[in-house]
Amino acid sequence: MEFYEVVRRRRSVRAYKPDPVEEEKLLRILEAARLAPSAANRQPWHFIVVRDPQKREQLRKAYDRDWFVKAPVIIVACADPTKAWRRRDGEEYWKVDVAIAMEHLVLAAANEGLGTCWIGAFDEKAVKEVLGIPEHIRVVAMTPLGYPAEEKGPVTDRKPLEEIVHYDGW
Ligand SMILES: Cc1cc2nc3c(=O)[nH]c(=O)nc-3n(C[C@H](O)[C@H](O)[C@H](O)COP(=O)(O)O)c2cc1C
Repeated sequence: MEFYEVVRRRRSVRAYKPDPVEEEKLLRILEAARLAPSAANRQPWHFIVVRDPQKREQLRKAYDRDWFVKAPVIIVACADPTKAWRRRDGEEYWKVDVAIAMEHLVLAAANEGLGTCWIGAFDEKAVKEVLGIPEHIRVVAMTPLGYPAEEKGPVTDRKPLEEIVHYDGW
């Protein structure tokens, strides 16, 4: 698909078909995340691919939605803050790095005809318990991944450019 078409067509999908995601598509999507830029190229990310139905069901403890746990795949994007770049004033960049990689993944999924939905409203402690994630690792985002079972039109409800773009100063 043409790039801007992918950007327009990507929507948050909250209904999935049970059909499995082909391995080659999954690998292409993960590869898109791997190629993302990161501060000082530290690549402080890890991605957990959850396909096991029991594990997905257990993730209900972290985000209790049927459409989330019933999607054939859930991807959990994590950061290792100990590996990430930090600005001189102490500002940490691991969340930015992982968010960029996650958006690469989300757009690649849309390009493959697959649906995703950024999940931010999860219980981090519960995700870490279910998936055995080490103490020092942070969970940044999750997304279900699968074939959409709902039709959504392209993105429309966004602020106009005039409201958000400033030229040569605020
Ligand atoms: C950082 C972030 C966190 C989000 N968290 C959730 C969430 O917890 N649950 C959910 O259903 N959608 C979540 N969303 C999806 C947004 O609601 C959605 O992107 C927004 O309403 C625009 O709709 P669209 O993605 O279909 O264009 C999140 C999106 C982002 C970027």
